[in-house]
Amino acid sequence: MEISAVVMAAGRSTRMKSKHSKVVFQVSGKAIIQWVADALFDAGCRDQVYIVGEAQDEIRSILGENVAYVLQEEQRGTGHAVMQAAPFLEGRDGLTIVLPGDCPMVSVETINRALKAFETAEGNCAAILITAEADDPTGYGRIVRGDDGNVMKIVEHKDCTEEELKIKEINSSMYVFKTPLLLSALGRIGANNAQKEYYLTDTIGILIGDGYTVGAVVCDFDDTRGINDRIQLAQVQSIMNRRILERHMKAGVTIIDPATTWIHHAVEIGMDTTILPGTTLMGNTVIGSDCIIGENSRIDCSEIGDETVVDNSIVSQSRIGKDCRIGPYSHIRPDCVIDDHVTLGAYVEVKGSNIGEYTRARHLTYIGDSKVGKNVNFGCGTVTCNFDGQDKVGCTIEDNVFIGGNSNILSAVVLGKDSYIAAGSTITTDVAPLALGIGRSKQVNKENWVSNKARMRGSNYIRLDDKRSEL
Ligand code: UD1
Ligand code: MG
Repeated sequence: MEISAVVMAAGRSTRMKSKHSKVVFQVSGKAIIQWVADALFDAGCRDQVYIVGEAQDEIRSILGENVAYVLQEEQRGTGHAVMQAAPFLEGRDGLTIVLPGDCPMVSVETINRALKAFETAEGNCAAILITAEADDPTGYGRIVRGDDGNVMKIVEHKDCTEEELKIKEINSSMYVFKTPLLLSALGRIGANNAQKEYYLTDTIGILIGDGYTVGAVVCDFDDTRGINDRIQLAQVQSIMNRRILERHMKAGVTIIDPATTWIHHAVEIGMDTTILPGTTLMGNTVIGSDCIIGENSRIDCSEIGDETVVDNSIVSQSRIGKDCRIGPYSHIRPDCVIDDHVTLGAYVEVKGSNIGEYTRARHLTYIGDSKVGKNVNFGCGTVTCNFDGQDKVGCTIEDNVFIGGNSNILSAVVLGKDSYIAAGSTITTDVAPLALGIGRSKQVNKENWVSNKARMRGSNYIRLDDKRSEL
């Protein structure tokens, strides 16, 4: 059967108080409108048309050219929005799924349930509504059913009678219609209501008046939640996140504190990994098994090997091998490839560098745009001076190099295999394999310098503790 979809996304998102359309906000690492499109694609619906308004450019940049767009120049209600898709739907015989663009919780299961409901519907069924029981139905359209339990009409909150306001079953704004019947009913709706808008919901009463039946599938309210303001955005984010965390927990990941752990939808995590509080895993991050991640760590679009520990650190767009120790307080910036068994400890920043296995930089080190071999030791306070004033050029540090503390290694320098760098050096030229590089002034000790200086001032040198005993 021919299945089309119309997604209404032309609203001005007034309550969001933003220069962006609400449908481009992210929920768990995916734009709201992309969640809707993916649910439709997963349900097998390839013919999707998006009703867009002034935010059309940002919506197009997210969804691309796999779907169609129709501009609704003036927002005159949901019925008017769907009418804009008429040229796209005319001549089609199958079903049309209508969704609002602001409901990222819509799932393929919900859509499939509504499509299936057509097969079992009684009478000559024109449409299936997706509804839910809301604890607080304020603001929603209410589903009015007859004594026989069948749907009769939808009444908008602002148009409800006292009796209708008590109804808890709400319209989710998600529907499946028989396409020709949708078009026929749309042609007959008016704007004679509290909001002076063309309501899509009025098509339901019209179709029933025509002698058709309208069915409903009642879903979990959470699956139908729409986002109109930032409070609802936070609520939906939290429900979606909780579902993602539960999926990982069921697959063998320990999450100590779900309330402070945020994991994007595409993240993969291996079995027996533990995620500690305050951790955010973003983008297409892949974490191995038996890792410990956190507390307070952020890993973005990165790959972390098995048994690696990331403690209070940030890792971005990089690859880290297995059995590594990262942090506390490390910053692994984009484009790093870090081999297995590497230790990058407290206050170590690495960017655009390759680091070989078993290399250690345990404290206060910066490694930028450099190529580092295996089993290299970085003394505390080593800096690769990768910026020559014009370009970023790192250095090459071959296998087994030992760098003493507080050393600077300048741009493009090569430290040969097995070489040593004396602590406190500034290395400006290459060091040959097995050589010792010393780049500092020679130490001079001046005997009795302190007492001589005191005498020159005309006093005797008194040690502080002697002075104290005098007091
Ligand atoms: C709508 C339903 C209501 C339902 C509620 C669920 C109608 C008349 N009412 O109300 O029964 O309970 O959703 O959330 O349909 N849009 C356009 N063009 C327009 C107007 C709206 O594209 O001219 C889009 C919006 O961007 C939004 C969707 O349609 O994505 C729903 O519009 P909205 O104004 O949020 O409708 P509600 O008043 O919430
Ligand atoms: Mg709404």
